[in-house]
Amino acid sequence: MSDNKAKNVNPRVIEVLENLPELPSMPSVVGQALDLLENPETDVKQLADTISRDISMTTQILKLVNSAYYGFPSQITSINKAMALLGFDKIKSLILSVAVKPMMLSYSGKALWNHSLRCAVGCQHIARSLDYGDLDEAFIMGLLHDIGKTVMQIYNKKAYPEIDKLVAIGADILDAERAFYGFTHTEMGRALVDKWKLPLIIGITAEHHHNPLKSEEAVSASIVYVADKITQEELKFPIFDNEIINCFDYEIQSPEALREEIFELSKPIEAALS
Ligand SMILES: [Fe+2]
Ligand SMILES: [Fe+2]
Repeated sequence: MSDNKAKNVNPRVIEVLENLPELPSMPSVVGQALDLLENPETDVKQLADTISRDISMTTQILKLVNSAYYGFPSQITSINKAMALLGFDKIKSLILSVAVKPMMLSYSGKALWNHSLRCAVGCQHIARSLDYGDLDEAFIMGLLHDIGKTVMQIYNKKAYPEIDKLVAIGADILDAERAFYGFTHTEMGRALVDKWKLPLIIGITAEHHHNPLKSEEAVSASIVYVADKITQEELKFPIFDNEIINCFDYEIQSPEALREEIFELSKPIEAALS
């Protein structure tokens, strides 16, 4: 786990995050499991025992593992078996997918959840074709890229539809958020990811997915930038900033075809988590 925090944090972000009426905390089993995953001494049994204590988490993880997205030929019936087959890193992205779903659904609604899940699949898909090191990390980058929006909606739900209206007529989302909240979902996402003590790259990409070239991790942030744009529900024909596309070695021949492919790949995960 990383103690690296964002530099020059907007004080408004910290104030809001610390004074939220309902804190978007993870179920306790998630914190325990993530701690165990960070410890090189942890063995499969310890982790499986911890996760298995939460029946709902266990059921949903097994449902996901048995979905067509993973494509195992036979049914996996225990967390122990799932871990042996998938490894710790994949289990981590499964735990997070299951854990953030109720939070996003209840505060931000189905549209943000579907977009986040497709963005996760999209990041993993792009990362795979780039030979990017950690595909499960790429999944989590996509899954949590807009998590700051959920915090904004917990803090003040009424203002967010006004931002959607401004964005629909061409306003920059970050400018609109600053005007209404005094901070952006990217700043808030970074602060929340830091608060949850997730790996640094997840916080950096949450912070910079709208301006990846300003990031110290430009390739990772650009992967999220592309996956984010391509999985916008209402935007069938995304336009990319060429400077960003040129910064990493990824060729998009047809945005429509890529979008179709990612939406198709997402279906088994969406169904398993529905
Ligand atoms: Fe965003
Ligand atoms: Fe997004």
